[in-house]
Amino acid sequence: SDTAEKLADPKELVGSELSFITDNLARLLESGHPMLNTVSRYYFSASGKHIRPLLVMLIAQATSIATKRRGKTSILVDSDVDAIDYSLMDRTASQNIHSDLQSQRANRLMEDATRGGHGGRPYLPHVKGGLTILPTHRRLAEITEMIHTSSLLHDDVIDHAETRRGLPAIQKRFGNKMAIFAGDFLLARASMALARLRDPEVIEIMASVLCDLVDGEFKQLKNLEDEDAPMARPDEGAFEYYLEKTYLKTGSLVAKSCRSSAILSNSTDDIVEAAYIYGRNLGIAFQLIDDLLDFTVSSTEFGKPVGADLELGLATAPVLYAWQEFPELGPLVARKFSGEGDVARAWDLVHASSGIERTRALARRYVERANEALCILPPSSATQALERVTLSVLTRTK
Ligand code: FPP
Ligand code: MG
Ligand code: MG
Repeated sequence: SDTAEKLADPKELVGSELSFITDNLARLLESGHPMLNTVSRYYFSASGKHIRPLLVMLIAQATSIATKRRGKTSILVDSDVDAIDYSLMDRTASQNIHSDLQSQRANRLMEDATRGGHGGRPYLPHVKGGLTILPTHRRLAEITEMIHTSSLLHDDVIDHAETRRGLPAIQKRFGNKMAIFAGDFLLARASMALARLRDPEVIEIMASVLCDLVDGEFKQLKNLEDEDAPMARPDEGAFEYYLEKTYLKTGSLVAKSCRSSAILSNSTDDIVEAAYIYGRNLGIAFQLIDDLLDFTVSSTEFGKPVGADLELGLATAPVLYAWQEFPELGPLVARKFSGEGDVARAWDLVHASSGIERTRALARRYVERANEALCILPPSSATQALERVTLSVLTRTK
């Protein structure tokens, strides 16, 4: 839109940083097995959106000018910014972190900067327009993309996916065994890279993302037979459950990598919290649009099959809204669209309802919340670019 174009261009700010990601990842995924190398690099060979690394870099820039050593360690506290997803906050991670870790951070970052990298590009801080991206930010960006891709490798086996990023899905090309190994390998290398950041708080936060991903997948699996099941009726309870699942499977990685990026900049607690709230709301908006696009775009454009969620038995936001208007969707949701003609019938009811527009409106509310969280950061071209990324989520088609 016009408004978005007036804001600083994210690609101009950190595009050169991102252009190294694919090469760096290929290097981080070097193993003694040519087959493992090929399989674990397979999804990186297609052009992904790299939205997570982009956010890590932009948060790095946006927070580095506000950098101040933090007096105390922040824990993942509840925040009242968000009315709907109040239950989504992670209260388990980072509860036992000691403040002396922070005081060592500034020194350590400087040491790391001069010591040299751990594979990938040389360890030199990159300064542009007075804003600094540290080597640790670059490593975090790579870790984030590796965690994301490892979850996709496993997800495509679980979901029997046909295509991904315009390529045949990993297991179609190399079989289930190779897909699972590649996912494990990516996660293993991501864990090593994470440990090498030498930042216990970031390690704990990013490790908790892995729990969240599994938690989210399990929430999605849970059956609906029980009368009191959270998705037994299309009410607030069902939405809360769906949004919680959405935070866990998508929002958590985005939110916690934004948080970690701010921590690596040595930001104050309020800024670390703002980065987290920004990422959380953006992540949820991103997945809401993903769930909407499953009903609206062609599979060629999307790079993966559409209508896939119904086939998988999933009732996402467009279906939950449609169900409020068409109660006859209830039995179909309950049997996970497994009856003859259920998928087509549900598809038609969603399109006959206002489910798609209402999902977009919900995503817009999350986008607004994400951008409100940015207000606490000192205004800069990086905060503008972050705003632009958020707005682009609403107009994306793939
Ligand atoms: C894609 O969702 C899948 C995820 C966002 C997370 C998948 C998580 C796991 C398989 C748990 C294991 C985690 C690790 C780190 C190995 P989707 O299926 O709705 O989206 P799609 O349309 O892109 O397939
Ligand atoms: Mg899935
Ligand atoms: Mg899937």
